[in-house]
Amino acid sequence: MKTASKNGPPLTRSLSAQVLMLTVAFVMLAEILIYVPSVARFRLNNLEQRIEEAHLAAMSLLSIPNFVASPEFERELLAAVSAHGVVLKQPQTRILIQADGMPPSVAASYDLRQRNMLMLIADAFETLFATDGRVIRVIDDATMRADTEVEIIMDEAPLRAAMLTYSWNILTLSFAIALITAGLLFLVLQGRLVRPIRRITESMTAFRQAPEEPSSSIDPSTKRSDEIGVAQRELAEMQEQLRQSLKQKTRLAELGAAVSKVNHDLRNILATAQLVSDRLTLSDDPDVRRVTPRLIDAIDRAINLCRRTLRYGSADEPPPDLASFPLGDLVDEVGASVGLPTGGEIVWRNRITNGMEITADRDQMFRVLLNLGRNAVQAISESGEIRVQAARTDTGVSIDIQDTGPGLPPVAREHLFEAFTGSARSGGTGLGLVIARDVMRAHGGDIKLVQSDASGTVFRLFLPDPQA
Ligand SMILES: Nc1ncnc2c1ncn2[C@@H]1O[C@H](COP(=O)(O)OP(=O)(O)O)[C@@H](O)[C@H]1O
Ligand SMILES: [Mg+2]
Repeated sequence: MKTASKNGPPLTRSLSAQVLMLTVAFVMLAEILIYVPSVARFRLNNLEQRIEEAHLAAMSLLSIPNFVASPEFERELLAAVSAHGVVLKQPQTRILIQADGMPPSVAASYDLRQRNMLMLIADAFETLFATDGRVIRVIDDATMRADTEVEIIMDEAPLRAAMLTYSWNILTLSFAIALITAGLLFLVLQGRLVRPIRRITESMTAFRQAPEEPSSSIDPSTKRSDEIGVAQRELAEMQEQLRQSLKQKTRLAELGAAVSKVNHDLRNILATAQLVSDRLTLSDDPDVRRVTPRLIDAIDRAINLCRRTLRYGSADEPPPDLASFPLGDLVDEVGASVGLPTGGEIVWRNRITNGMEITADRDQMFRVLLNLGRNAVQAISESGEIRVQAARTDTGVSIDIQDTGPGLPPVAREHLFEAFTGSARSGGTGLGLVIARDVMRAHGGDIKLVQSDASGTVFRLFLPDPQA
């Protein structure tokens, strides 16, 4: 037999491992969402700083007459701001500091005054993916003076290197954060969720294997008020209740077996008593002859009770032997057997339409109708009427047994269709309705109580059309 392994699923597929991996993935995702704009901002800050430095460098030229400095000085200035060239434009002045030789060809131009966040992000990735060491032009207004425009021509490589370092730092930091978060979550989940759930599953498995063992129950002493606590308590309660009802059922079954043994012997004893009491009818004593019929009657009833109980206990009702027959005739036969009082106080009305046929086990249907008819006769105290009618429906036939009795007593209604408890009659077994239902269900149909009040009772039988 294949059962869930005692320790649950393998670690890689365990709840905590899943949570661990998902947490790492989510934290990394969150970090990426943070990283993308921040690397763009990092680049912008870097460039703005460069512009600022270039501005300061160019300003130093303003103090020189005609703004003409020696080439060495210009070279030093350019080296200080690590640029190939700087242009400073003011309304009246324009200063150009340029390295010797050919001006390098500029691969891209970025005017920082016209960039929105999305463009900055795109620029940042352009820089990150530009592996060929481009020369770029950057233009911005000087922060100190709004009327001054600064432009620098510079190598992109150092900027890219700084951005890569920055990215790497963010990546390692994010990974560390993800691992720490996931690790903490893992520990908490392991303790708060996974282990309790595993205990619940283990207890379920143990209970399934040995429901009667008290040790298979989960310990209900948990103080937790969350869902896990509720689950543990509910499970403990369910196990306890199931164990109780299992015990009760076992005991009932043992009792049932004992009863049927007693019943069996009792029936034989009663049969002997019946034989003897039959002889009493021949007695010379008129008193004895007078009470004998009552004695015989009582013994008859006792034997009947034994027989019915035994039959129910053995549950050996054969499957219905289906045949088509006229329902009206059957109802007439039942009417002749239900034991109507001879004075005609109770009228049996057969309202089955002429020629209506049903397909069922005739003997079993006889027993069902007899049980219902007898119940009705027993219920009607003085005079009344029992009416049987039937109607064809889309799916079969429904048969109503209606009486003008007082309705079901509360005990009978509460334990409707329950063997031995459903009877509200002294000497009753509460088996009549149960057997009726068993028979109807064996036919694929059912029985229902559709009305029960002071004006009377209606039981409705349903019999499906046999499948062609
Ligand atoms: N037509 C009815 N009118 C009133 N009470 C009924 C009727 N049918 C059944 N009952 C009640 O239901 C109980 C159960 O019926 P049944 O299962 O046949 O068992 P039993 O007849 O052995 O008591 C009866 O004891 C009776 O109180
Ligand atoms: Mg009955």
